[in-house]
Amino acid sequence: MYWDGRCKSYDKSPGHVLLPDVWREFLRKLFDDKMKILDVGCGTGFISLILAELGHDVVGLDISRGMLNVAIEKAKERGLNVHFKLGDAENLPFKDNSFDAVICRHLIWTLPNPRKAISEFVRVSKYKVIIIDGKCIDNSILTRIRRKLGRLLISIYERRNLLKNYHYSKEINEMLPFYGGVSANEVVKALEDLGLKTRVIDLKWIREIMYKQLPKIYRLAWVSRDYFMVEGVKSPNRLKRDI
Ligand SMILES: C[S@@+](CC[C@H](N)C(=O)[O-])C[C@H]1O[C@@H](n2cnc3c(N)ncnc32)[C@H](O)[C@@H]1O
Repeated sequence: MYWDGRCKSYDKSPGHVLLPDVWREFLRKLFDDKMKILDVGCGTGFISLILAELGHDVVGLDISRGMLNVAIEKAKERGLNVHFKLGDAENLPFKDNSFDAVICRHLIWTLPNPRKAISEFVRVSKYKVIIIDGKCIDNSILTRIRRKLGRLLISIYERRNLLKNYHYSKEINEMLPFYGGVSANEVVKALEDLGLKTRVIDLKWIREIMYKQLPKIYRLAWVSRDYFMVEGVKSPNRLKRDI
């Protein structure tokens, strides 16, 4: 599977692991002092490990054993106690209301049935669901050329071929409704259809800080994206401080 093959190189892409301090501050403001949180599609554990550092009781779930193994190693190195579990976002192996909150970052585009997954997040969460994602907003010819050139250089730098299949094969991409990204409105609609109250927080500022810290070749492949967090709340009383 793609993600098992990607697990060793995933953390080498700076966009996946940059700015842990920025994310820590953001997540600190987002959650009450101690919560039981499920991080779906946790990958190599970037968000799970920060949440654990902040004192939350965290379960990280992913469909890729390889990605989970990397996350487990990182948790060990940092002396953090996170329970990592193999599983499918679209059929979560947990009872209703098992967690205070569910979070996912950069997961939605990978799913063949994102609405099914979102309904699972709502089912297992007592209070709220946080979805962090984005969508490419510049597909001009110039950007596409620049991106190809950037990917060529990154392929050499990371020693993997980003030009052939950037992520999945064409056949798989066609099965993914949000390959290329999801908009905040689409996430809001999915959560509101399930009866949650929502708010959207623009996270483009995180990408702007990140851009400044990227090595030059990654800047070349950089694409302008909407980047956001949608919070869906089941019980409005638990809506945490404003960010
Ligand atoms: C782009 S990575 C994001 C990883 C991590 N959330 C982060 O922010 O760095 C997408 C992750 O979703 C996982 N994934 C894809 N489909 C999944 C599914 N159906 N159920 C659970 N995890 C899934 C992949 O294995 C991969 O680790």
